[in-house]
Amino acid sequence: MVNTHIHHSRSKSSVATPDSSFPLFNAAEKNLKMPAVGLGLGFYGGNNEPYGTYPECGAEPHIDSSGHINPPPPGCGSNTEKAVYTWLHNAGGRRLDCANSYYNHKSVAQGIQQSGVDRSEIFILSKVGPTFGLGFNDTINQTMIILQELQTSWIDLLLVHWPIMVHPHETYIPPTSDPLCNVSNPSTYSEKNCRLSTWSAMVTLFNRGLVRSIGVSNYNVTHLQEIIDAGMPLPSVNQVSFNPYNYRTGRADLLEFCQKNNIQLVAYSPLGVPDARQFPVVHEGKPTGMHATLLQDPVIISLARTYERTEAQILLRWIHQLGVASNPRSMNEIHMRENLDILLKPFTINNDDMMRITNLAQDTCEVDPDWYECVGNGSLP
Ligand SMILES: NC(=O)c1ccc[n+]([C@@H]2O[C@H](COP(=O)([O-])OP(=O)(O)OC[C@H]3O[C@@H](n4cnc5c(N)ncnc54)[C@H](OP(=O)(O)O)[C@@H]3O)[C@@H](O)[C@H]2O)c1
Repeated sequence: MVNTHIHHSRSKSSVATPDSSFPLFNAAEKNLKMPAVGLGLGFYGGNNEPYGTYPECGAEPHIDSSGHINPPPPGCGSNTEKAVYTWLHNAGGRRLDCANSYYNHKSVAQGIQQSGVDRSEIFILSKVGPTFGLGFNDTINQTMIILQELQTSWIDLLLVHWPIMVHPHETYIPPTSDPLCNVSNPSTYSEKNCRLSTWSAMVTLFNRGLVRSIGVSNYNVTHLQEIIDAGMPLPSVNQVSFNPYNYRTGRADLLEFCQKNNIQLVAYSPLGVPDARQFPVVHEGKPTGMHATLLQDPVIISLARTYERTEAQILLRWIHQLGVASNPRSMNEIHMRENLDILLKPFTINNDDMMRITNLAQDTCEVDPDWYECVGNGSLP
């Protein structure tokens, strides 16, 4: 049970600043806006693992010997519930970044209920796949279950989580009733036609009013071009890993393409996953070791001092000024408030300093090809 008496919540008006949300276009309800900073809800630790353990509770389907997918291990859910409550009730955040493959929708619903914040004030983003079957019927059925688990009659933004069903590094292939998506039948399987069949289900869900907008995640330009070529409505959003270090790993081109096509880019892992990820230090073109985290990059630290903000705020503000939304994950109320304060107490990073951050870009996939974003089909770029 979350203690509701310790903290003061932020007033409703404190979350509405002029640039605190991005309008959505393409397959989105007219005038729909998405809060620019959301709370990441993947990676909340699993069974006997501390909060923040990576990969998240539920990244691997919990399958028993008879092939059944089991509920998430204890611990994951309570972390999620507490984070949702803290974000909504104490920090005043309004967007939640969920996914079916995080296996914690029920805990998200509990956190929402505990917060006392009205559903109509909350922007819920969720995702279908990749550890659940895609294709036409499975996408529709999956969404019905997501709605039930979240205890809501609509989702504000539904994304296709990955352009393929198999998460890189994982061997489990979820069953699907769509022959186009059935990888074990090479005579009917087509990666591209599976994507388009899934997308047509997304359009159907949107047309039925069950989701207020639809989008994709981890799609590169080729995947987006397929939708254009098929003459289908374009996604309103594409969510990809996006931070200064991976900016040149396909992101700069992707951002330009998305902006040209009115697709709002959303940054996941915006802080470079400091609890799990180290980055190579490149000096005069040569790797010289690893930074502990992106938050400890000397340029980011020095800019934090200059602007009298935290390192996380420098990274999130850089993303925001590029016109990209973000959803940092946090279990820490002070961090949550800091992350929202890039909108509530806005500041402007000047052009020279924006370039200094952009120039931190390195080819992370070349130096560290095992990173999951770099491996396997459907990876970026
Ligand atoms: N679409 C996809 O395929 C995909 C893939 C990966 C992730 N995501 C989404 O993106 C979300 C975020 O990405 P991520 O979890 O990979 O990494 P991330 O947000 O870059 O990093 C999370 C870490 O940053 C710390 N943190 C947050 N705010 C901070 C602050 N102000 N100062 C210092 N540290 C701070 C958190 O610790 P504290 O708890 O201590 O604050 C946590 O350890 C996920 O939860 C998920 O919703 C989507």
